[in-house]
Amino acid sequence: MANIFSEGKKEREIFKNEEVLYPEYVPEILPHRESQINEIVFALKPLAKAKKASNLFLFGPPGTGKTASINYVIRELEEYTERAKALYINCFDISSRHAVLSELARFFSIALPRRGIAGDEILARILERARTIDFRPLIVLDEIDRLGSEEASKLLYDLLRMDVKQKPSVVLISNYREFVAFLDARVRSSLAAILVEFPRYSPTELKDILRERAKYAFYENCIEQDAINLAAAFAAKHGGDARIAIELLLHAGRIAEAKNKEKLTAEDVKEATKKIVVVPLDRIVANLNEAEKIILKIIAKKQPIISGELFESFLEEAKDKEIAKSERSYRNMIARLSALKLINAEETNLKTRGKTRRISLAVNKEELLSRLDNK
Ligand SMILES: Nc1ncnc2c1ncn2[C@@H]1O[C@H](COP(=O)(O)OP(=O)(O)O)[C@@H](O)[C@H]1O
Ligand SMILES: [Mg+2]
Repeated sequence: MANIFSEGKKEREIFKNEEVLYPEYVPEILPHRESQINEIVFALKPLAKAKKASNLFLFGPPGTGKTASINYVIRELEEYTERAKALYINCFDISSRHAVLSELARFFSIALPRRGIAGDEILARILERARTIDFRPLIVLDEIDRLGSEEASKLLYDLLRMDVKQKPSVVLISNYREFVAFLDARVRSSLAAILVEFPRYSPTELKDILRERAKYAFYENCIEQDAINLAAAFAAKHGGDARIAIELLLHAGRIAEAKNKEKLTAEDVKEATKKIVVVPLDRIVANLNEAEKIILKIIAKKQPIISGELFESFLEEAKDKEIAKSERSYRNMIARLSALKLINAEETNLKTRGKTRRISLAVNKEELLSRLDNK
């Protein structure tokens, strides 16, 4: 009997190069990101002469090309000069000050003892080394919000204060604009980052992106225009996210090949959409209770808002309503809204009030409000 993994005899192939559709692939050109890339290049230009460049903050919703754009720029920079070197860190995987400093030590070719040493000790060694390196370092911290604002503030305080000849430049990347506002005031002022916004892609922009990718991924005439249109429309509806659009083409291509079709059609994309896990905002909102909706509306109006103030406003709004108003149920709701990724709740230290949380929306405000209102 044939092995269950054997592919059988393939009569037709529609993929020329499937890898072009993999998430880690960095494309040669990024349609509709020319202006963002130009802004980044303009800010980083001094690096090409081994000078200190401006710091940057890139922000925008998922799948809008932030990671792809910075990787593209890094690749070009390092091809152009050896006088600048970039360290790219995704804080999703490397999620503490200590872990980031350890990576930086490795980047500077500092051997750290196996037994592990404290963050401050690592920092001291980095500072010593930074005096002798002959290149200008660029440190990219992608998904910086994963560190939380306190941990990020501590780390950035160390990095921005490095008083060495080859002072590093820093690029921070986050899904939400407010992140910088949550950082420690001293850090914010020494960061003085240039902001670059990555807006959601429109259906037309997604079509251009997909068409460009499809050229390299599929054999000529093996994909129908309607398939691209449908994938673009679906991704536009789910946050203008290019990742979803590209993933759809990959799944649809596999479906078409499995059926031994000679062309990828809209029908295959339709089938692929069923396999893609995106929980639409509509469905999330439909499952919220009244109290949670009230809380979201207050946040939308006043964000970022301190947890205590939010609780007071909630009590005020809910005073004539038959809903649970204990502090405990309030805390549960905040945790749930946060787990649903509707809000960001950041631990912060306020001088006057001690530890508290600063809360803001994690989704597009207009899109959320339109759904809250018609339910
Ligand atoms: N303008 C673009 N042109 C081509 N591919 C793009 C473009 N923008 C995003 N992509 C692709 O879409 C996917 C998601 O982009 P990514 O940069 O990871 O988004 P973000 O970091 O903003 O979440 C990646 O595969 C990326 O290569
Ligand atoms: Mg990214």
